[in-house]
Formats: sequence, C-alpha cells, structure tokens
Amino acid sequence: MEMMFQPKQEEEKMSNEGVIYRISGPVVTATGMNAAMYDVVRVGHEGLMGEVIELHGDKAVIQVYEDTSGIRPGEPVLNTEETLSVALGPGLLTQIYDGIQRPLATLEEVMGVFITRGVDADAFDMKKVWTFEPKVAKGDTVVSGQVIGHVQETETIVHKIMVPPGKGGVVKSVESGDFNVTQTVCVLEDGTELQMMQKWPVRTPRPYTQKYAPDTPLVTGMRILDFLFPLAKGGAAGIPGPFGSGKTVTQQSLAKYSDAQLVVYIGCGERGNEMTEVLDEFPHLIDPNTGKPLMNRTVMIANTSNMPVAAREASVYTGITIAEYFRDMGYDVALMADSTSRWAEAMREISSRLEEMPGEEGYPAYLSSRIAEFYERAGRVETLNGDDGSVTVIGAVSPPGGDISEPVSQGTLRIVKVFWGLDAGLARQRHFPAINWLNSYSLYPQSLDQWFRDNIAQDFPEIRTQISGLLQVEAELQEIVQLVGSDALPVDQQLTLEVARMIREFFLQQNGFDPVDAYCDIKLQYEMAKAILSFQDAAKSAMADGAMLNDVVNVPARSNLMRGRFEQGYLERIEAMVKEMTEQIANAVEAN
Ligand SMILES: Nc1ncnc2c1ncn2[C@@H]1O[C@H](COP(=O)(O)OP(=O)(O)O)[C@@H](O)[C@H]1O
Ligand SMILES: [Mg+2]
Repeated sequence: MEMMFQPKQEEEKMSNEGVIYRISGPVVTATGMNAAMYDVVRVGHEGLMGEVIELHGDKAVIQVYEDTSGIRPGEPVLNTEETLSVALGPGLLTQIYDGIQRPLATLEEVMGVFITRGVDADAFDMKKVWTFEPKVAKGDTVVSGQVIGHVQETETIVHKIMVPPGKGGVVKSVESGDFNVTQTVCVLEDGTELQMMQKWPVRTPRPYTQKYAPDTPLVTGMRILDFLFPLAKGGAAGIPGPFGSGKTVTQQSLAKYSDAQLVVYIGCGERGNEMTEVLDEFPHLIDPNTGKPLMNRTVMIANTSNMPVAAREASVYTGITIAEYFRDMGYDVALMADSTSRWAEAMREISSRLEEMPGEEGYPAYLSSRIAEFYERAGRVETLNGDDGSVTVIGAVSPPGGDISEPVSQGTLRIVKVFWGLDAGLARQRHFPAINWLNSYSLYPQSLDQWFRDNIAQDFPEIRTQISGLLQVEAELQEIVQLVGSDALPVDQQLTLEVARMIREFFLQQNGFDPVDAYCDIKLQYEMAKAILSFQDAAKSAMADGAMLNDVVNVPARSNLMRGRFEQGYLERIEAMVKEMTEQIANAVEAN
C-alpha cells in the first residue's frame, strides 16, 4: 500500500503569496496562498491580473484577464486581497475601456499595437482637476448615496458626487473648488474622508432603496419598437438575430437616439474588425438631442478579438456597475451589450478549463442563472438618496444559424420582457429594421399605456391594436394568397392587403442611415399610424361608392404622403397631406 505524504502547511507560511501549480489557458491554479473567493491576484513574474473563482483546500483557481502564454508553474502569485472593482468618479464619460476598466487609449500608448501584459492603467486621469461645487454644508447629516457636490463632467452631463454606500454621518468640513478625484473634498465628524472617486466590486449590484414598476417608455425613435413593442425605462430587452440581420445597427441606433441620458455600450465583436469599426465611428457621432459628441454621455467597453476570454466575461459586470453608478445619481441609463453570446462563450470556455460538468451545448449549468442575474440588475429604482433613476438593458444575442432554441437565447427570453426578433428573411429582402412583427413581443404595454395616453394621444393604445391587428390579418390572408393568388380574394380583403403593405413599407421599414427617417418622433409615429387608418377608411367608403381598388391605391397624394417621411418638417405637414389624400380618394369615385 502506497503511503501518501502530505507536507503540512505551517500556518506562518500561508501568506498572500503563492506559486503557480498548473496553467490551462486563461485558468491558473495557485497553491500556498491565502485567498478568498473573488480576490484579485497578480500571476507570474509579469504580474498578470486575475481573479480567484474557485477554492479547493490549499488550491486557488484563478481566471486570468491577460494572455497566459509563456508563464510557468512555480512562478509567484500575489494576492492583492481586493475584489474585482471599478473606479467610479468624474472622468468616466467619453472613456473606452477593456473588460477590466483599463482605458484602451492608455493601453495603446503604453504598449503600442501589441498588448503587453501586466500593465496597470488607471481608469481615468487621477491628476486631472475638476471643479467641485458642494451641495452640503458643515453640520448637515448625510446618508449613503447622498449627493455632496456637483462636477460638470462634460458639456452635457453633471457628475453628482455621492456618499459611498455604507458611509454617512455629520459633515465636519466640506471643500469647494478645484480638486483631483483622490483628494478629500468632505470630512465627516467620525473622521471619514470622502473623495470624488469611489470603488465598487463589479459582481455585487449597487444598493438602492426600492425597485419601482416601470411606467415610462424608453423612447427609441424606431417606429416598430416604440409603437408595437415598447421597452420601459428600467426594463430589459433581448435582440436575437442571425449574423447580418441588424443587431449592431439596432444597438447603435438605440445608443444614438434613445432618450436615455447616459449610455454604456459593451461591444464584443463578432467579426474580426467589427469592434474596430465601432471604435472608429463612435467618437465622431453627434448626439441628435444636444448637437454635442455622443461620447459626452457615453462609456464604452470594447472586447476586441485579441483580448483574453476572461476579460470578456468580466466586461459585462464592469459595464453594468458603471451603469448603476450613474443610475444612483438619478439618471436614466441605457446599457447595450452586443453580443451577449460572446460573453456566454467566454463563460463556456472558462467552465471547460475548470473541467466542470457541461450543461446544454457545452455551456455551464449556471449559464441561465448568470444571464438572469445580469438582466435583473436592470430596473427603475428609488435611489439611496431618494431620487429616481433607471438602468435599461438591451442585449443582442447571436444564435448560431439564427435558431433561438439554443441556450443563450432561451436563457435570455426567460428573463427579458421584450423580445425584438431579427429575421434573416426580412434582412435578405432589405426590409429594415428586420424585426419580425409576428413573433416579437413586449410585455410592457399595459404598464406603459397610461403614459402613451397622457403624453401622446388618448387613443394611442387603440390605434396600436388596430395596426397590429391588420398585420395579423395580413399573415392569415397571405396563406390563402400563396395558394390561390390575391386576385381570388374579395375586394375588401385585397384592400386589407394594401393597407398592411402600407404598414410594412411606410411605417415598419425605417432606414437606420437616413438622416431624417432614422429617428421618428413618437408623436409623428402616432400620426403616421393614423394616416394609414385614414387611408383605409377613405378607401373603404370610396370603394363602397364604386371606386376601383387600383384607383384609390394610386392617388398621387398617397405617394407624396409616404415619401414625406424622408423630409424635414413632416410632423407639421402630415395632417394636410392626409387631407389631400382622402380628398383625392373621394374624387376617385367621381372619376369612375
Ligand atoms: N435599420 C437598418 N437600416 C438600414 N440598414 C440596415 C439596418 N439594419 C441592418 N441594416 C443592414 O444590414 C447590415 C448588417 O447589419 P448588422 O447590424 O451589422 O448585423 P448583425 O450585427 O446582426 O450581424 C448592415 O450593414 C446594414 O447594411
Ligand atoms: Mg453585429
């Protein structure tokens, strides 16, 4: 019988330094080191950044955020005894980060085009001086989350400096004027010193007082989304779609035009150069609401294809923590993740390195709970300081072959309340946005209808019901048309097909690149929908009086009406154009 000899670890030998025992791609096992779950460690002579994700007795399993090639067993591992955290403070906006909040610009400066390893880069300029305008005075009692001062961070955004969660007390002194983010701007009676920067562990949701039921839409300016499948501020939406169906274009339109005050954009490039395109393009985009650079209200997280999978896994948490931080200031924040399938694949790769029992299609068994935890960080909340803020999450999913029965799509659909299903067939026909109106859905209309009634029109929900009803009827009629042709249908059903075609071509189609039509005001959406119903009514009554279908469809004013949406000032003109159309249709009777 073989004797096992286990050298006894002496207590004093367990320190925050261990050695590498085993390396498997991004997963490294260290021994001889005191560690707790989620401790951040420095791995190897180069000090690669990693995070403890499993503990087995003396062994700590670490996921490493940098390329591990070339490092060897026996090299040192140093535990920083901190958890993976983001730095939060003035300087966040306009930044483009990697998955662990290192600014890409700084990384490129330090390393050139090749990503060298073990580089520490501050999340933002720690020396930069900001003008701190205090909002509290000596003797005031401040609580967790309370705003103690303002900083004008960009031309358009005021950064509110808050008491970090868990802290609070009576203000002993407060400064006013120019400081950098690490200098103390406020001291409490108990000696607590507050700076403009705080840190927060990315895997822990930031606290709030209560979650509210959503009651306000995130207005996107995309007709099919706002009108038929609205998303609430604080809600969560999934956009599954095969390659080339429009996920990225949709996400970018949302980043540009939605009425969120701040945007966090997490890009996980699908194609080699896709992320590079985004990085080239985004900094030049103009915010249509302010005329200022879109980056003024944006934080980007970019996972380029040369970055290690573990950083991609972390990027989603880095992004949502930043979003929650701005929410806590009372802002409406929108977070886009494109595509979450790349995130899930990172989890799959790490899980297989850990030799975990694989679940469906090789994804870890905890895939759907991780997806749920991520989307659950969306919400409209009462913040700790009593303000109202929201994080809306919109995740693209890229199911292989477009088949949404796969685990990432299914895990997403179980948790989100809005499903915008992109359709390869529509994209092939160049019907954009290629969102399938028959299988997409939103579970929010009930909670948002009051907002639409109060802010747009009393009958907004009823108009929506009529429009979506017509699209349903069209789908049924199409089946008959496939068999017998449209000429065999009674003339009133032929008219219904024409009305539905108008809905598709005039209302649902919207060119994301057209300077005017790319964004459609929600009042205009309503007027356009009503214009379609006016066409239907006028045509019905003219045809009852003997007009021919062709004549009512072909009145010139109808083409003018439909073309008008590409021209400025359409909202002011549409009523007159509808009137002209209905008059011409009525005249089609007399012409007969
Ligand atoms: N809303 C839109 N308007 C106009 N063209 C679009 C729209 N959505 C997608 N497209 C076209 O489809 C192409 C692929 O879209 P993309 O968003 O890159 O797909 P995905 O991210 O799903 O692979 C775009 O380059 C563009 O030509
Ligand atoms: Mg894409």
